[in-house]
Amino acid sequence: MAFKFSHGTIERNLILLGVLSLITVSIGGLAQIVPLFTVESTIERVEGIRPYSPLELMGREIYVREGCYTCHSQMIRPFRDEAERYGHYSLAAESVFDHPFQWGSKRTGPDLARVGGRYSDDWHAQHLRSPRAVVPESIMPPYAFLDRPLDYRRVQASMQTLRAVGVPYTDEMIANANADLRAQANPEADASGLNNRYARARQGNFDGHGGEVTEMDAVIAYLQMLGTLVQFRDVTPEQLRQQ
Ligand code: HEC
Repeated sequence: MAFKFSHGTIERNLILLGVLSLITVSIGGLAQIVPLFTVESTIERVEGIRPYSPLELMGREIYVREGCYTCHSQMIRPFRDEAERYGHYSLAAESVFDHPFQWGSKRTGPDLARVGGRYSDDWHAQHLRSPRAVVPESIMPPYAFLDRPLDYRRVQASMQTLRAVGVPYTDEMIANANADLRAQANPEADASGLNNRYARARQGNFDGHGGEVTEMDAVIAYLQMLGTLVQFRDVTPEQLRQQ
């Protein structure tokens, strides 16, 4: 009875209810937040994760510009149905260099976190130009205009900005950005520098046309590397638990 009485008192006294709610919520908050200050890094580094190559970065910027995230998520949740459809669930470390991250909150289309390598470059080019040409029932809009030249004058500025928020782009990476960008879009170019700086960055003639680097090249280079950096056979169960 005593409990019932005091509960009634609290509920009828707005200030008391407010103060006690605040204390209760703070305890929960502290229990979650304080431990984070004592660990060195809340996101465990995972082998293979590297910053985007300049071409991939430009593709990512177009992805953001076009609002692809309004229909596509990039976050595979740790559920069996998702893992069977899309592959291993996303690790926190996989979006550590994403500013802003592209997890998304809506799936009008499929999750793209591991779409890299699932289709050929040619499939992507056709699909982006006219989704219904390859997937007849598709409701994705066409992006044929991406076949225009890529304006990459700002790539170094983008890298510098990302460096300011913690992405480990080196001076060397920034100095070679334009050359690396062109080398990745031209299969005949010497890619040794590119590969030293960005492990496993794949060269390709992504849009199927030679010549000038296009926005299509950049978007496909980006799509084709999504989810391919971590080699899951190298990740220990220990590291996975910490994600
Ligand atoms: C209006 C919603 C919508 C927008 C915006 C959109 N998509 Fe899609 N996308 C879809 C739908 C629906 C599908 C599934 C049907 C298909 O494959 O075309 C899809 C499929 C895809 C696929 C194939 C995925 C798979 O696993 O089969 C890729 C890649 C893709 N979209 C990339 C993009 C990119 C890049 C952009 C931005 C330039 C974009 N989408 C914008 C709706 C959208």
